Amino acid sequence: MAATLITNIKGLAGVKNKNKLLRGKELADLNIIPEAFLLVEDKEIVSFGKMEDVGTSTANVQQKVNASGRFVLPCWCDSHTHLVFAASREEEFIDKIKGKSYAEIAAKGGGILNSAAKLNAATEDELFHSAWERLEEVSRLGTGAIEIKSGYGLSVAGELKMLRVIKRLKEKSGLFIRSTFLGAHAFPLEFKDDHRGYIDCIIHEMLPVIAKEKLADYIDVFCEKGFFSPEEMEIIAKAGMQYGLKPRLHVNQLNSIGGIETGIKLGAISLDHLETMSEKDIRMITESHTIGTLLPSAAFFLRMAYPPARKLIDHNGAIALASDYNPGSSPSGNMNLVVAMSCIQMKMLPEEAINASTINGACAMELENETGSIMAGKRANIFVTKPIPSLAYLPYSFGSDLIEKVMINGEWL
Ligand code: NIG
Ligand code: FE
Repeated sequence: MAATLITNIKGLAGVKNKNKLLRGKELADLNIIPEAFLLVEDKEIVSFGKMEDVGTSTANVQQKVNASGRFVLPCWCDSHTHLVFAASREEEFIDKIKGKSYAEIAAKGGGILNSAAKLNAATEDELFHSAWERLEEVSRLGTGAIEIKSGYGLSVAGELKMLRVIKRLKEKSGLFIRSTFLGAHAFPLEFKDDHRGYIDCIIHEMLPVIAKEKLADYIDVFCEKGFFSPEEMEIIAKAGMQYGLKPRLHVNQLNSIGGIETGIKLGAISLDHLETMSEKDIRMITESHTIGTLLPSAAFFLRMAYPPARKLIDHNGAIALASDYNPGSSPSGNMNLVVAMSCIQMKMLPEEAINASTINGACAMELENETGSIMAGKRANIFVTKPIPSLAYLPYSFGSDLIEKVMINGEWL
């Protein structure tokens, strides 16, 4: 069995003895062992502790890595992405610079519909290869678990094609991957005035095939003015739940229209975005079991107000952070930047942002027993930083590449 011993770690961060979702004050507790060692055997973390206790656990070690001056963390768990897409959309980026809003661009057939036209014209292989490159890129940036949504097909063939691409990524990649069906991302133009027609297509034509071929783990709906109403979201989410797909939903990005209340009623595992939150919305989500997943890079890219992370945490909420990697609102899957933006713009403490991007992200993908923290028996998906003065230096020095190496399944990338 291949064994790797990492020694002299300046700080081993994210050590947990329970696989549980962190709420409120718990988020600030990252548990760091100073001057530590970490032993990996085969694909798993087998032991760790203080250097002085490294002792005999090192008998059959093939590889030793001296991490002096460096921190070791569990890999990022990015629980919200749209990583499969056919083309970038920098022409809309320019339109936005010139003054058009996200909603105006979407209303003119840009936005999601623009991506859908391109995706339907692309082959499954083309989509697979470009998504594979993005997956490799984010894994080098420290991501070890990721959720990927469909939602740029908006046709039976297009949605199934996307989900089959995600299935192939799952089969080939060493990362943990969760698949989410987001057929209800936008109404295709031909159903603009026939919402029930498209919802019927989702329920009667897409979902049965998705369930039969086991193409998705979750169901998502974009609940927003001009997209899906809370009532429409409820119908679609319930149809997915009949097939065992739990809901994780896009709500309160641009407007507060009742998505939080409906999402909680549905028992959603996570409600994502939350840029536009009323006091009642904040109260409802923080009093529920639902995770609030914040996507600060989307708020940054769209020049929107950031989600109220501080209020959510101070009201004892459970929050996760994710990249929303997609061509329209967050063309970056860099979780290091997400952590930095969360500290800089949402006033999260570095410990809170790291917990929200690791163990709580893992909980949002129901992967908390496999990854998201340093614990014996968990998958060895970890990264080693470059030499840094303190852990706070990670978000402080935003934009710098501070990851020296990434280990996935016990092997260095
Ligand atoms: O999460 N808000 C809806 N969906 C994506 C953006 C999709 C797009 O613009 O292509 C999001 O931000
Ligand atoms: Fe999204």
